[in-house]
Amino acid sequence: MASSSSSPLSRQSVTAAVAQLYNTYPFPPEPLLDEPPPGYNWRWHWTAAHAFCTGRSPDRQAIRVLDAGCGTGVGTEYIAHLNPQAKITGIDLSDRALETARNRCQRSGAQNVRFQTLSIYDVGQLEGTFDWINCVGVLHHMPDPQAGIQALATKLAPGGLLHIFVYAALGRWEISLMQEAIGLLQGERRGDYTDGVQVGRQIFAHLPETNRLRRREEERWSLENHRDANFADMYVHPQEVDYTVNTLFELIDASGLMFLGFSNPRYWDLSRLIGSQPDLMARSAVLSQHQRYRLVELLDPEITHYEFFLAKPPLDRLDWSDDGQLRQARVQRHPCMQGWPSQSIFDYDYQMVDLTAAEFQSLTYCDQAESAPTVAELVAATELDLGEVRSLQQRQLIVLTAPTA
Ligand SMILES: C[S@@+](CC[C@H](N)C(=O)[O-])C[C@H]1O[C@@H](n2cnc3c(N)ncnc32)[C@H](O)[C@@H]1O
Repeated sequence: MASSSSSPLSRQSVTAAVAQLYNTYPFPPEPLLDEPPPGYNWRWHWTAAHAFCTGRSPDRQAIRVLDAGCGTGVGTEYIAHLNPQAKITGIDLSDRALETARNRCQRSGAQNVRFQTLSIYDVGQLEGTFDWINCVGVLHHMPDPQAGIQALATKLAPGGLLHIFVYAALGRWEISLMQEAIGLLQGERRGDYTDGVQVGRQIFAHLPETNRLRRREEERWSLENHRDANFADMYVHPQEVDYTVNTLFELIDASGLMFLGFSNPRYWDLSRLIGSQPDLMARSAVLSQHQRYRLVELLDPEITHYEFFLAKPPLDRLDWSDDGQLRQARVQRHPCMQGWPSQSIFDYDYQMVDLTAAEFQSLTYCDQAESAPTVAELVAATELDLGEVRSLQQRQLIVLTAPTA
């Protein structure tokens, strides 16, 4: 469960233990490639992430990005290749993880990135501010996540975006029990991470087959945990804070930043759980957004993490409800799409989408135009109407650029 602060001394010793874990088992242990990583992750694509958060394309591509707690640089490498005009800084506590990150980016030809050993608590030492900060899988391993998120918030430029991933308590319940069990059996040897991995693997191998912890490991996690680095990251961690919606929003409130939304809105849609019951949905209408989120996770406690975007105001967000503004906007096909050109494609989130003939015709028109057409030009030249343009935008199949004032 979440604890919010710690004394400087325990903060230092816990941070040293975390660095020691990742110097023993740099994470993630993904292999290095001699070419850019395959596919995309829209959360690491500036145009896609910005359009998701604000409804519009960003004003600039030449941005500064901070990957805070970059580990061995798997995410950093994607950010570097997906955003070739960006200048990226990756920081981490672990020198061994950073060594791999440097090699990874060098081998795949990412030249717009540099790495530095630095704690998130000390990001004030970096020059200037960042347009976009990525902090995935890190804050929950800090003894004082609140100080961590506040430090990141000070480095965010006005209008900048902060992408965060932290653990959720409900779906990690079995993991937390196993962590404690391994710790008890390690006793004095706690902090010896290879011993922890050995003890954990031995327990799993010999628990009864029907045991709840064992079943959860086998059904949900074992595919990734065959590597010791993954197993150690999950079960032998010296520091982990798991959140609930309630404690998550305490953390977010402490950042002073604006919550823009979860990056997986489908999970947070209450109607997927009780939508068949209009009276229950009507009862939920009086709840705050925060309470509705809590209700979703209570009813569907499989959730293992929260992934979301925050922003430093001011931030222009457009819902494109104004017809005049929409008609003047410029349109491009969404940059994260697989299988194009075809009427059946995978969208930004790798979900299968069947485009209508008019949608397919319109995306083709956008691609073939010399420069991005306006919506007015698009609807004049194709079968699409304004409602369908809005639908394409809401489903992240196009990106709209706001007309300049
Ligand atoms: C689970 S790994 C995540 C790596 C990477 N962000 C990813 O998602 O692939 C956590 C990383 O956070 C780093 N870390 C933990 N506390 C940190 C801190 N206070 N400052 C900087 N990095 C930290 C660890 O060294 C480790 O490499």
